[in-house]
Amino acid sequence: MFLNLRVIVLLSSMLDLSLGTSGAAGVSSTDTLNDVRRNITDGQTLVSAGGSFTLGFFSPGAPDRRYLGIWFTASTDAVVWVANRDSPLNNTTGVLSINSAGTLLLLDGTGNTAWSSNTTTGNTLSSSAAQLLESGNLFVSDESAVLWQSFDHPSNTLVAGMRLGRNPQTGTEWSLTSWRSPADPATGDCRRAMDTRGLPDCVSWRGTAKKYRTGPWNGLWFSGVPEMASYSDMFTNVVVVRPDEVAYVFNATAAAPFSRLVLSEAGVVQRLVWDAGSRVWNVFAQAPRDVCDDYAKCGAFGLCNVNTASTLFCGCVLGFGPVSPEQWSMREASAGCRRNVPLDCRRDDGGTTTTTDGFAVVSGVKLPDTDNATVDMSATLKECRARCLAKCSCVAFAAADISGGGDGTGCVIWVGDIVDVRYVDKGQDLYVRLAKSELVNKKRGNMLKILLPIMVFLLVLMCIFLVWMCNFRGMRRNKDIQAKTMLGGASKELGDENIELPFVSFKDIVTATNDFSNNNMLGQGGFGKVYKGMLEDEKEVAIKRLSKSSGQGVEEFRNEVVLIAKLQHRNLVRLLGCCIHGDERLLIYEYLPNKSLDVFIFALHLCSC
Ligand SMILES: *[C@@H]1O[C@H](CO)[C@@H](O)[C@H](O)[C@H]1NC(C)=O
Ligand SMILES: *[C@@H]1O[C@H](CO)[C@@H](O)[C@H](O)[C@H]1NC(C)=O
Ligand SMILES: *[C@@H]1O[C@H](CO)[C@@H](O)[C@H](O)[C@H]1NC(C)=O
Ligand SMILES: *[C@@H]1O[C@H](CO)[C@@H](O)[C@H](O)[C@H]1NC(C)=O
Ligand SMILES: *[C@@H]1O[C@H](CO)[C@@H](O)[C@H](O)[C@H]1NC(C)=O
Ligand SMILES: *[C@@H]1O[C@H](CO)[C@@H](O)[C@H](O)[C@H]1NC(C)=O
Repeated sequence: MFLNLRVIVLLSSMLDLSLGTSGAAGVSSTDTLNDVRRNITDGQTLVSAGGSFTLGFFSPGAPDRRYLGIWFTASTDAVVWVANRDSPLNNTTGVLSINSAGTLLLLDGTGNTAWSSNTTTGNTLSSSAAQLLESGNLFVSDESAVLWQSFDHPSNTLVAGMRLGRNPQTGTEWSLTSWRSPADPATGDCRRAMDTRGLPDCVSWRGTAKKYRTGPWNGLWFSGVPEMASYSDMFTNVVVVRPDEVAYVFNATAAAPFSRLVLSEAGVVQRLVWDAGSRVWNVFAQAPRDVCDDYAKCGAFGLCNVNTASTLFCGCVLGFGPVSPEQWSMREASAGCRRNVPLDCRRDDGGTTTTTDGFAVVSGVKLPDTDNATVDMSATLKECRARCLAKCSCVAFAAADISGGGDGTGCVIWVGDIVDVRYVDKGQDLYVRLAKSELVNKKRGNMLKILLPIMVFLLVLMCIFLVWMCNFRGMRRNKDIQAKTMLGGASKELGDENIELPFVSFKDIVTATNDFSNNNMLGQGGFGKVYKGMLEDEKEVAIKRLSKSSGQGVEEFRNEVVLIAKLQHRNLVRLLGCCIHGDERLLIYEYLPNKSLDVFIFALHLCSC
């Protein structure tokens, strides 16, 4: 018995051991290629120290196309990087090795090089090694010198710590290139790169055509992608601007889930975040996200607004009109807009500028393309305005950095045309140069905007005064009614100040109208039927039975009754009481044999409007 137990314990511990080794992918369980192990063959993998990333061979489509790549261990379809994307191996005889010079080589079965990391120092290095880091970076180094890293050669995916940008000094670029199809990692048509002219800006290209722009970096986010601020608790977004590097980097906080930024075959960039619980990638953001993200959709000086589908999303910046209304009517807005009134600006030989122009602010927009704009990060907005005014070719200006709050700092000045402007949540202010007359027009519009509320306010005040007057008279009349206590039956006060209106029991009304007999009917309208009746005290009354289809609740009915009672006027027929019974709503009026029914009905309508 005792012995048996021991055997079981021993067996299970042996089992653990074997599971342990096979769990780490058979033969290879390390993350490094070095002197000890110089290569991995197809079927073997490198796994990063924490297990997040795996490097190995894979076939996304046909099995006779083998690629070397890095993927998320938890989601093997999520390939982060591909080495030989344009030169697949046709069978499983491939080998990745590191040579004595520290160069990575992907060899096919015959020893031909399918791909190489191209680090040709020429020297034989003593301790070069390639390591798959926990960040997903395949990192080749010799002692402390970095020889090569996969993060410098992105495929279609950016993971935390990778850069999208360029080195303006050498022209080296870190950009994303789409796959050709989900089953083919070959270099596709779409590219996402950092545009370092003007303010840093991420641009998606299809071939040589600009398709989408994130808008310039404003210190907090890219001007057209305010949603970047929504996940700043998990990922920090930084734009590094140095002489040798202008780049966008996103960094994950310690507890953040896996995230990747992927450029699809169609040119759409998605930020995907791994939900480890349900094992799916959730889409956090996507660009382009709507029609207004199409680059320069509304042309020069156009302004795109996703909320104006009825006008086909395109409009013109204030002070501009469509160049060709015919084309706009044919859904062709890319010719853009032109100025309604020419600017008035002259520069004399002495360099002095004479101008009567001014600026109108267009608020809440993604700033225009800054390719041809002049940027000065140290200027204030006030200086910026003065500079733009002094330069006759300047058509607009804006703050370059809003991270400090207020109106922002720094200065962007546009000359020529402004393109690709759209309304966006948390958008910025763009100051557009206009002729003086346009600004005067705008001021008149503003005056109207100020005057209109004042006029409305005065009108409301007058109405309140009139109602008060009526009420004052009504109260006096009401007192008369109360004094008389005309109607019998259970009487209850309606919950409103000064208004006491008796409730008449339904039974009394049925009796009074002969069970709503047709003989007693005086008339009929959309509101219901009106009956003549005789109450117990021989008083003749008219009873309005509201149609059940009116859908009025008890509370609304009460309010209406109180209102009518308040409006009592000597020329109007008087309301004497009311009744609520189940879904029956009844009003009891004074019966006026001499007055025409028209007056009667008019009075009723007045009360129920
Ligand atoms: C891979 O490494 C093993 C030993 O680690 C060696 O026997 C083999 O020849 C190497 N293959 C290639 C293609 O370098
Ligand atoms: C791979 O290509 C070589 C020639 O490049 C050919 O000899 C070989 O049969 C091919 N293998 C497969 C599995 O198609
Ligand atoms: C694998 O492909 C290589 C060429 O890429 C070829 O030389 C080799 O014969 C192929 N091996 C098999 C087993 O098909
Ligand atoms: C390496 O260099 C060769 C020749 O200069 C070039 O054809 C190849 O594309 C380069 N490979 C990489 C991965 O840069
Ligand atoms: C990114 O985050 C890591 C820690 O998570 C930190 O060490 C590193 O400095 C950060 N990098 C940037 C550019 O913020
Ligand atoms: C910048 O200027 C060039 C040359 O005039 C022009 O082709 C290009 O369209 C301009 N870009 C923008 C965004 O205005």
